[in-house]
Amino acid sequence: MAVQMSVSSPFRLYDADPPARAETPPWEQPPVARKRHLNWALKAVLPIAAVLLNGLLLFVLVSLSLAEGERHVILAVAAAGALLICVAVIMVLAVSVRRPMLELQDKIARVRLGDMDVSVSFASRNDEIGDLGRDFNDMVAQLEASREEIQRLHQTQMSRAEHFATLGELAAGLAHEIRNPLAGIAGVIEIIGRDLPPNSPARSVIKDAKEEAVQINRILTELLEIARPKPPQFRVGDMCSTVEHAVMFARQQAITKHITVELEIKDAIPPAEHDPNQINQVLLNLLLNAIQSMDKPGVIRVSLESDEDDVLITVADEGKGIPPEHLPNIFRPFFTTKGHGTGLGLSLARRMAEAHGGHIDVTSVVGKGTEFQVRLPIARLQAEAS
Ligand SMILES: Nc1ncnc2c1ncn2[C@@H]1O[C@H](COP(=O)(O)OP(=O)(O)OP(=O)(O)O)[C@@H](O)[C@H]1O
Ligand SMILES: [Mg+2]
Repeated sequence: MAVQMSVSSPFRLYDADPPARAETPPWEQPPVARKRHLNWALKAVLPIAAVLLNGLLLFVLVSLSLAEGERHVILAVAAAGALLICVAVIMVLAVSVRRPMLELQDKIARVRLGDMDVSVSFASRNDEIGDLGRDFNDMVAQLEASREEIQRLHQTQMSRAEHFATLGELAAGLAHEIRNPLAGIAGVIEIIGRDLPPNSPARSVIKDAKEEAVQINRILTELLEIARPKPPQFRVGDMCSTVEHAVMFARQQAITKHITVELEIKDAIPPAEHDPNQINQVLLNLLLNAIQSMDKPGVIRVSLESDEDDVLITVADEGKGIPPEHLPNIFRPFFTTKGHGTGLGLSLARRMAEAHGGHIDVTSVVGKGTEFQVRLPIARLQAEAS
């Protein structure tokens, strides 16, 4: 990177037309174009020269009474003196101000390139410029410490991610291996059940065994989904029918508990880009949780509305609510407070909503109920761009 250091002309212009900035990292980009700079030496000398010139004029006026030759000598000496003063001032400024400024500029350029092993030599000076040097050295030391901390955290994150990825692979492999023999076992149970006489007491055992096999299969399917998530198959479709489909299914589950599932479509919902299967799964997980949270008859309210960018689906129940200490954990895989739960439902739901560029929020009051809000962008491209 070219960092302009020399101040060869009285006017200095940084690159007026910097090259394209997008591809190069920030520390390798040239400085932003700035206004014209007046050379510092000119700035320092002009007022001094003006004062000296005035003094000289005054001196000429005062010396008018002197003889011609004498006057010229005195004027020449005074002019030479003024010039000398200017040169001396410039030299002092060059040593005491310009040199540290150039060094600082050089060190800043090195820091921008990622070299944190720099410090300025004028930090030991006992004046404001020394203060500036000490501040700069402290700042670089702090930057270095922060960079090391970030690198350490990054390393930890990477090894943790690797660890989880391996565990995920292992879990997915196991789930896959178990599912095939499980299908065989379920088939055998089915055949045995069919051959049993209608009044055989073994029938209830077979029924339980079949239910357990279905439950194990569900757990394995969810585990596989978590370990190897499928990307959504997006298509522009009617969100109302996706929601209605999930609500219809939930009503069948709720009927035995005398729970009503109400659906309110508040606005004219525009077609939204989504994977109907995945959104159906998200809503089913929320609706089944809502049904399971209600011990007595009541109402689950589902509403669908939209604003300019998003579709908002709300599922509100009148169940037992979620204690505040559980709220931070409910989206974590395997967190469950249910005897038969896997704790994968909400974790899957959140992952799918996020794969759509959306998110899920929750509010809950213990003893009153819980409300989940699913926000999904209407257009995926729009969500990715923002
Ligand atoms: N509507 C709700 N009301 C009260 N608690 C809820 C509600 N939804 C979720 N929870 C709490 O969050 C936990 C996690 O839910 P999640 O759906 O992930 O797993 P689960 O329902 O326990 O098991 P799974 O859905 O895998 O069968 C639940 O065990 C429950 O404690
Ligand atoms: Mg659940």
